[in-house]
Amino acid sequence: MSVVLETNVPGAVLFRRGKVRDVYEVGSDRLVIVASDRLSAFDVVLPTPIPDKGRVLTQLSNHWFERTAHIVPNHIVETDGSRLPTAFSQVAELQGRSVLVRRCERIDIECVARGYISGSAWAEYQTDGTVANERLPAGLRESERLPDPIFTPATKAVTGHDENISRAQLAAVVGKEVARRLEEATLALYRYAHAYALGRGLILADTKFEFGFDGTGALTLIDEALTPDSSRYWDAARWQPGETPTSYDKQFVRDFLVAAGWNKEPPAPVLPEDVVRGTTERYRECYRKLTGLELGAK
Ligand SMILES: Nc1ncnc2c1ncn2[C@@H]1O[C@H](COP(=O)(O)OP(=O)(O)OP(=O)(O)O)[C@@H](O)[C@H]1O
Ligand SMILES: [Mg+2]
Repeated sequence: MSVVLETNVPGAVLFRRGKVRDVYEVGSDRLVIVASDRLSAFDVVLPTPIPDKGRVLTQLSNHWFERTAHIVPNHIVETDGSRLPTAFSQVAELQGRSVLVRRCERIDIECVARGYISGSAWAEYQTDGTVANERLPAGLRESERLPDPIFTPATKAVTGHDENISRAQLAAVVGKEVARRLEEATLALYRYAHAYALGRGLILADTKFEFGFDGTGALTLIDEALTPDSSRYWDAARWQPGETPTSYDKQFVRDFLVAAGWNKEPPAPVLPEDVVRGTTERYRECYRKLTGLELGAK
């Protein structure tokens, strides 16, 4: 087990510190992405790290990048910690949570695929009968599987919540051809991962991808892929339309924060031991179910 709240790698140039990842520059065209154990809930980073979370996110993303490269090329250059640039390969705490990637020009869109109706999509459907402004069949129940997976892009808001945009708005922002390719790649990735996860007892209800253009102009899958932070996974055996399934994401932590009466303004409360332990366990379990491996056993 390892715990990393924030990294400071001597001799490396920080490119940006996100809510969860510390990203370093390597030359002009590569980055090293280090996933910390920070957890953000309601868009606020909590003061308490979740041991091994960053290792789960990194190794699960690697698992998916390897298996989906035939669908869309991704940013990964090196996942073996001992073969990262020296500043990183020699730091024990960075092992298993760091990757070398191609630095891409990011497309500032959250590419969301939904195969089931849940969360904000369920809320919108209940009031308007639509999801991201597109009409869905009447009579759907919460958590029900959609007749076909749908693509619901959103803008990446600098502050506050991402905002859904229509496919026409997306085309206006990125161009018709890129919009078409983002939709096609997002849905193809979703279909593949949904089938794969189902074979391992999990339902991939929805997920979010980020894309960019690499140095040669090729459309590239970047960031993280199909992790519990970017996806809603449910236990297939317990899924029941009409109910709210427990997911492998941060619901456990969110429930604690709501019960604690936190007003969702920083600073967030410190998490108690048992919530931390339970959260680590859920992340590890998600990894175990999807890969069939114990974390770090490879
Ligand atoms: N290959 C890549 N090239 C360029 N940027 C990348 C690449 N992969 C990931 N990123 C960016 O690195 C950052 C990863 O950090 P993290 O996920 O913690 O950010 P975040 O808080 O979610 O921020 P954001 O709102 O910018 O996504 C993100 O901004 C992501 O878009
Ligand atoms: Mg992110």
